[in-house]
Amino acid sequence: MAVLSSGFTPSTRDVDALCGLLGDDDEKVVRAVEHAIARAGAGEGPVWVARLLSRADASSPAVRARLFRAVGRLAPKDAASAGALASALRDPDGRVQKAAANALGRLRESEASAQIAAALLDAWDRSPALPLARALAEAMGKLGLVQARGRLEAVPAGDAELSRIAGNAVAMLRRDGSRGDRSEIDAGRSGDFDVDLVLLCRAGLEDLVREELTLRCPSVRSVGGRDAAQVTATWRGAPQDLFAVRTMLGFAFALPSEPAPDDAATASACVRALSSEAARRIVETWTLGTVRYRIDWQGKGHSRAMTWQVVHALEERCPGWVNDPTSSTWQASVSVAEGRLRVLLVPRGLVDPRFVYRVRDVPAASHPTLAAALVRASRISDADVVWDPFVGSGTELVERARAGAYRTLIGSDLDLDAIGVARGNAAAAGVAGVIFQIADATLHAPCGVTRIVTNPPMGRRVARDGSLVDLIDRFTDNAARVLSRGGRLTWLSPLGGRTAARAEACGLRVALRKPVDMGGFFAELQAWDKP
Ligand SMILES: C[S@@+](CC[C@H](N)C(=O)[O-])C[C@H]1O[C@@H](n2cnc3c(N)ncnc32)[C@H](O)[C@@H]1O
Repeated sequence: MAVLSSGFTPSTRDVDALCGLLGDDDEKVVRAVEHAIARAGAGEGPVWVARLLSRADASSPAVRARLFRAVGRLAPKDAASAGALASALRDPDGRVQKAAANALGRLRESEASAQIAAALLDAWDRSPALPLARALAEAMGKLGLVQARGRLEAVPAGDAELSRIAGNAVAMLRRDGSRGDRSEIDAGRSGDFDVDLVLLCRAGLEDLVREELTLRCPSVRSVGGRDAAQVTATWRGAPQDLFAVRTMLGFAFALPSEPAPDDAATASACVRALSSEAARRIVETWTLGTVRYRIDWQGKGHSRAMTWQVVHALEERCPGWVNDPTSSTWQASVSVAEGRLRVLLVPRGLVDPRFVYRVRDVPAASHPTLAAALVRASRISDADVVWDPFVGSGTELVERARAGAYRTLIGSDLDLDAIGVARGNAAAAGVAGVIFQIADATLHAPCGVTRIVTNPPMGRRVARDGSLVDLIDRFTDNAARVLSRGGRLTWLSPLGGRTAARAEACGLRVALRKPVDMGGFFAELQAWDKP
């Protein structure tokens, strides 16, 4: 039977045959037909909806219910379809009523929202049987029918499933109803209490982040952490001051952790963490307006049941907080490692001012936190004459300018377009006086260079013709020649072991070698001194 093949997409000529199959006794066939209709309707939704609805009256109740289920999956926006579905709420058959309610719950942006709302409320007020009541409650929640809130709150406690659905629907209504309210992070406000901070970074940069955090954020009390790609600290202050740390990707606040051996324990431990004194202080200090939060179960997908469990428990413990997966000011990132629950509160929607100068990019431009890390590892001095021989979009040079005084900045590249991009970014950053040159990094020899800071090609575009090894070898030799005595080459080497041997053979002395995550592959952050 063609319809059982997942590749089968019917045409409108097949409507009659498909409607016939909707009456099949085999549930597998019925599901396959519904999927096939959904596939066909993805391209020609309105035509399919009209054809299916035109068959409703003449069909048996069982087929009618399935027809409405199929129509619901196509989520028609037009008033005529909504009208047909609304009328079906009065169908004599309960299965049809339920299918119609479910279908209506999917019509969030229908032209006929007022008509849909009226039909659902009317059906609710007619004291529906339990299956329809559950479907109506769910539909009213999904559609955000604020008029339904009182009815849903008044659901009697008799049926646990209806109470659960109505509870979720009320939470959705609160969420939708407060979307226009103010909710933002007040990053400039200083907290007068210690917070456990987590700075996230590219793996391999932890030491540089730790160092920069200590230097630039004097309100940090203790810095620690041995995990990859993050640094922990105890800190107090204003969140926006943390953007002084240019080597981090972002930051979050860690909540008290506790054992969580299974899902039930995870949900209740998560509730305790989110309603803890520490969490409330953080959230209430730095939120302007309504606290809106989303829960991100790391490694556990959507985990809807656990989310609802936490949401309902927090309604009582933290009244006024609104759960909103799509528009929130805080994200609770929940993970379990070695049987312990860890919750990080991540402020959302903050304006990160650090790298806004990057008005244009080149392919394979450096991640700016990596550029900032290269600059830190170069151990700057105000007498620096800095050369970036693979300047690309100029990120390293701008980061060098941001780090402190220098004598000269020189950026060269083989590509004229890249020079234009770098010039534009330097101008946007307000960094004047950079010397830009078109030149080959393996041959160019600017005078008096005390620091070479660069992110060369990593081989993704040039390795295929085998030229990367030659380019990197010849550049290492040239860097050793061009550097002044006492100078330092700081770069990301795509061929760590090879360039180390080469640099040593050229008389350079190793100061740092560290594998760093480049975003899916590793390169080696190397610093070499010329004695
Ligand atoms: C990884 S990108 C540079 C990334 C740069 N740091 C940025 O943030 O945009 C490498 C750059 O090296 C340049 N390049 C490749 N071979 C070169 C060579 N032999 N001499 C100079 N530049 C070269 C490319 O044109 C490219 O702009």
